[in-house]
Amino acid sequence: MRIAHLSDIHFGTADHDVVEAMVEAVHASKPDVVVASGDFTMAGRRSEFRDAATLIARLPQPVLATPGNHDLPVYNILERFVRPFARYRRYLAPQTLDRFRNADVALLTLNSARRWDLSLNWSHGRLSDEQVERADRFFASAQDVRFRALIVHHPFYVPEELPGFKKIGNAEAMLRVLAARRVHAVLSGHLHQQSVTSRSLTVAEDERTVHLLQVASAASTRRRNQPNAFNVLDIDRDGVWLTEHIGDDDRFTSMEPRLVIPLQAPTPGQPGRARERPIEEITGSEL
Ligand SMILES: [Fe+2]
Ligand SMILES: [Fe+2]
Repeated sequence: MRIAHLSDIHFGTADHDVVEAMVEAVHASKPDVVVASGDFTMAGRRSEFRDAATLIARLPQPVLATPGNHDLPVYNILERFVRPFARYRRYLAPQTLDRFRNADVALLTLNSARRWDLSLNWSHGRLSDEQVERADRFFASAQDVRFRALIVHHPFYVPEELPGFKKIGNAEAMLRVLAARRVHAVLSGHLHQQSVTSRSLTVAEDERTVHLLQVASAASTRRRNQPNAFNVLDIDRDGVWLTEHIGDDDRFTSMEPRLVIPLQAPTPGQPGRARERPIEEITGSEL
């Protein structure tokens, strides 16, 4: 089972040669499913959404997608407040999925982009309590698959060298649910930076690790001193292997695959027992 993860193309500031190289490289990697974690556009313009829709149609199918903070209209303030996701729904939602499940994987996207924020910085994302409950229900019903992952635009981890960024709102509540439901990974973008980190949480004396996989911008010129990149995840007997595809001079080069999430062979009865444990028993600790 192979997943291609890309993010933050930002049509409006996208490098079209890099977009072409990226489309070719994603096809060459032969994924079973493509995951796109938001910021398809720069300012939510219709022309940018049309370019994004054309791109999605050209990618291997199916494509799972969720909006980023740049996918709301920036210049039409009325539309931003009254119908913030109307353009996303019109151009991108019809040809993308918000969840995917087969015998090997269970993938859920959640929209963390917000039309406004009390901090008056609209770029920070947030998850609602209702979304935390939705994730809980989805992953509770997917305990029998090999790999479970949540896809959101905003990060659950921000490195110290990026002081202008914040962790996604309601992160701890979501992490507790992800640990309780044995979700292996969160796939995010927004930082335009590659990283693999993890959070460990204790669930009824059982240590659980949620891996946080950040992918850089796939084709935007807003690279923040990082190369363009997309990731490929392979799920096999041993676990999840990450292959980074790094953009360099309008071509993408694949790095050496590395095992980032070891997966144990399924133990009969184990998922069912975990499902019955109340959330209150969970305690968290920052790694
Ligand atoms: Fe972005
Ligand atoms: Fe973003």
